[in-house]
Amino acid sequence: MLEQALKAAAALPDGDPLAAASALRAAGFPPDLAATALTQVALRRKAVAKFGADASVMHFTRAGLEQATRGPVAARRAARLAAAGATSVADLGCGIGADTIAFARAGLRVHAVDASEETAATAAANVLALGLSQLVRVEPRDAASVPLDGVDAVFCDPARRTSGGRRVFDPRAYSPPWDFVVGLAARVPMTVLKLAPGIDHAMLPPGAEGEWVSVDGDVVEAAAWCGPLAAAPRRATLFQGPDVVSLTGSGVLAAPVGPVGNFVYDPDGAVIRSHLVAEFAATVDGTLADPTIAYVYTSTPAPTPFGRCYEVLDQLPVALKRLRTALRSLDVGALTILKRGSALDVEELRRALRLSGSRSAVIALTRVAGAPAVLLLSRVADPGGAAGR
Ligand SMILES: C[S@@+](CC[C@H](N)C(=O)[O-])C[C@H]1O[C@@H](n2cnc3c(N)ncnc32)[C@H](O)[C@@H]1O
Repeated sequence: MLEQALKAAAALPDGDPLAAASALRAAGFPPDLAATALTQVALRRKAVAKFGADASVMHFTRAGLEQATRGPVAARRAARLAAAGATSVADLGCGIGADTIAFARAGLRVHAVDASEETAATAAANVLALGLSQLVRVEPRDAASVPLDGVDAVFCDPARRTSGGRRVFDPRAYSPPWDFVVGLAARVPMTVLKLAPGIDHAMLPPGAEGEWVSVDGDVVEAAAWCGPLAAAPRRATLFQGPDVVSLTGSGVLAAPVGPVGNFVYDPDGAVIRSHLVAEFAATVDGTLADPTIAYVYTSTPAPTPFGRCYEVLDQLPVALKRLRTALRSLDVGALTILKRGSALDVEELRRALRLSGSRSAVIALTRVAGAPAVLLLSRVADPGGAAGR
């Protein structure tokens, strides 16, 4: 009956929920079942962004979907674990099973547990729906009680939210508890931890590779690759449409400092979070204009996936009135404001500028050699093409 209700709900247009509920009741589904099916179909529609076509047969809880790893990110992690020689993995706190599914698809046997009965049942339903039951055992169980002697590898993606759904920023508030999570590497050398992007580097297990992952420019997670899985001290992994690129390095190098150049790169958030700005700067032969600000300046543009390129057209006055005069003289109306190393409130500044011209412009509020600076920029969408001009 649930499957029929789901089919009927999926066939309704994605619009007015009251009309959809009436339509299902009119088709003979009891109100509770109609409500469950409509919620599930709404979650499936939302889940397409993370899971693509799989979403249409998967099951979700609202919290489970929010916390789930995106399909391509989970697939890449699973492939890396398989390539390292792991054939089995314990997924401790499996949620709705996004990582479990990816591990099984990479050929690993998976013991997946979740402390929440409902969540574990949802993961089990997903494993079944995707035809992976032969490789996966899902149990409602506390992670701390799982014996780890029978597995090659451990994966733990601790809950980083309170029971009320608010995000938790301090790893010591994670569940399972941080001491347990960080201690896993001492029990099973091939341990991978999924962590919040804001994790302090000092909290990473000693010797672990810290990886920061972005998807189309948004930093979505960090991971600690422990023991033999650590291939470099730090890694930035960028998913850009169908492409995935990685930058590795020590995470402790300082980029050289120089003058404001003709071009400036705004590095991807994963590059910045992984402390690989110096390594990135080396790839474009760039320098910083202030040792503490991650804008990378060059004299010529070069194609790179690791940052957005802008041409530096001018330096504008920092004082509000003179900045307003300068922008009005350029007939600027629509203003994009980038900010790095400035305490100014972007929206307050936009209001105070009161611009109404007919042109659009980009400015960056930043620091140059320790002093506040405003740069007038123009986006270079194709730095390779711009170099050949
Ligand atoms: C961030 S989610 C995991 C998401 C999962 N990796 C995915 O992509 O679908 C964390 C999960 O850990 C579970 N959890 C929290 N504390 C736990 C514990 N002590 N033992 C087992 N599971 C736990 C939560 O119920 C939650 O489902």
